[in-house]
Amino acid sequence: MCGIVGYIGSRTASEVILDGLERLEYRGYDSAGIAVFGEDGLMVEKKKGRLAVLKDTLESFPLSGNLGIGHTRWATHGEPSDENSHPHCSESKNVAVVHNGIIENYLDLKRELMEKGVVFQSETDTEVVAHLVEMFFQGDLVDAVYKTLEKLRGAYALGIIHKDNPDMLVTARKDSPLVVGIGENESFIASDVPALLKYTKNVYFLEDGEVAVLKKSGIEIYNEDRQQVERDSVEIEWDFESATKGGYPHFMLKEIFEQPKSIRDTIERRLDENGFVRFDDINLGKEELEQIDKIYVVACGTAYHAGLVGKKALQKIVGMKVDVEIASEFRYDDPIIDSNTLVVLVSQSGETLDTMAALREAKKHNAKILTITNVIGSSIARESDNVIYTWAGPEIAVASTKAYTTQVVCFFMLALDFALKLGKIGEKEYLDILGELRAVPEKVEQILENSDQIEVMAENIKEAKSGFFLGRGIDYSVAMEGSLKMKEVSYMHTEAFASGELKHGTIALIEDGIPVIALATQEKLFEKSISNMKEVKSRGAYVIGIAQEGHELIEEVADSVIYLPKTDDLISSILCAVVLQLLAYHVSTLRGLDVDKPRNLAKSVTVE
Ligand code: M6R
Repeated sequence: MCGIVGYIGSRTASEVILDGLERLEYRGYDSAGIAVFGEDGLMVEKKKGRLAVLKDTLESFPLSGNLGIGHTRWATHGEPSDENSHPHCSESKNVAVVHNGIIENYLDLKRELMEKGVVFQSETDTEVVAHLVEMFFQGDLVDAVYKTLEKLRGAYALGIIHKDNPDMLVTARKDSPLVVGIGENESFIASDVPALLKYTKNVYFLEDGEVAVLKKSGIEIYNEDRQQVERDSVEIEWDFESATKGGYPHFMLKEIFEQPKSIRDTIERRLDENGFVRFDDINLGKEELEQIDKIYVVACGTAYHAGLVGKKALQKIVGMKVDVEIASEFRYDDPIIDSNTLVVLVSQSGETLDTMAALREAKKHNAKILTITNVIGSSIARESDNVIYTWAGPEIAVASTKAYTTQVVCFFMLALDFALKLGKIGEKEYLDILGELRAVPEKVEQILENSDQIEVMAENIKEAKSGFFLGRGIDYSVAMEGSLKMKEVSYMHTEAFASGELKHGTIALIEDGIPVIALATQEKLFEKSISNMKEVKSRGAYVIGIAQEGHELIEEVADSVIYLPKTDDLISSILCAVVLQLLAYHVSTLRGLDVDKPRNLAKSVTVE
């Protein structure tokens, strides 16, 4: 959702900010703006539309100065327009504010301010912040910000500058992501790390309620009680190149192709000298595991689908009951949680608001918490007792690919770890499964070599208005992810169905030429899956079949087939997902769509 970048130092602020905003484009936005303090005072430019529109305007009217804030807006309060874009200013134009989050009590505050005669320029919730800062300002911006924060209810990451305090940028956060970048004689703020990687890898993560004062000379952090706090900086391992396209036409394709490496990193970095899984970062030993009588996996979107595969791994390998819940539903579903419940949160960004709310709900009931996330220092990671980081590297494309496969890998490793500690698996079986998992990167490479073949399949279905993904068992879980991927990047209406459910209604939708992507990767379910393929084929469907090598019988029913390198049935889910990612990618690009930034979507969903 909204992206924030702020800078104070000796560089041209507008250049740093526009560059940073470009790296946050993946978050999704519909307008962009910037405020810079320089010789001409506090200057603001903001435009509806892509960042390129703002950049064009700034080429004709450049903003000079070394202090500034910028923003990409994903509209919530008020339509996308120049007026509703950030930064928002006070009436005197002394104060400029950028904001990510939602000020829940903005209507009350707006009414109070209007009663005092303040005239509003926009329909946004954010504008109240600019007017409040102006109202409280008596020469000390930090004091005015604190007084403003006392009035706010809701979520915010804020960047604030004032024309009378041109040596500082003030930032504050509560329930919205924000990182503070540490440079030499320069300081930065950003919604996410990729915006800063070109300039620094050294950052502070602010806690909820904290305020940071950034100056050229350094950064001071204060808590809710205005006491200065000491904070260790964090060194980010990602490099700048990992946040660029690196020669690929799109981030999504680059990230699909990065999977052998990200899966390898996720596995190998956690193996001890004897080749056993070791989670140094989590405190779930035999004793704790024996207390657990229920596992919930809670997540949204693709992370939820990773949880569905994770359930199969945990149930099969550990024999523990697992429920997978959509995070936005979890707290309204009267979940049965107590101190013997393990709640596993899955989130690439670690910032998804619904997943965060589920975590807090689980904590209220004293559940044990385990988070699987990709982003070190993210909000969900910081509130979790135990964290497993996926080593996917920055995922920039809106459609999640390498985060999904590394999340699934983490579930397999977790299942092996739990099973061994609980004595539910013998060492041989453990090492066999782990061996198969360690072989996945190489097998993914083989699939990637077939990208052209998958492109041909995409060509055959690219005109279709709708399509179906079918699967049984774990194939059904993967089909759901394949369908989501296709929907979000190609806008083709697709649905995933459990193959056995077809005859209970869905089959009525099958008509001539409709694409059906049929997953038949499970040895035990292969024959049944073939029967289901026949059912749709005989009603006119165009069937793309996916099976493991050695199951050539599928060619008798499918119009075209992709074979996965042979592996363990459960683990084939990872390979199958890569095929479906490529299929969605190719359909999208063949349709000429913006595959990295699909319409209406945001990478990180920080509102409910
Ligand atoms: O950052 P998270 O993993 O918590 O995000 C969850 C979903 O918003 C995300 O997976 C979304 O479904 C992706 N666009 C899917 O590609």
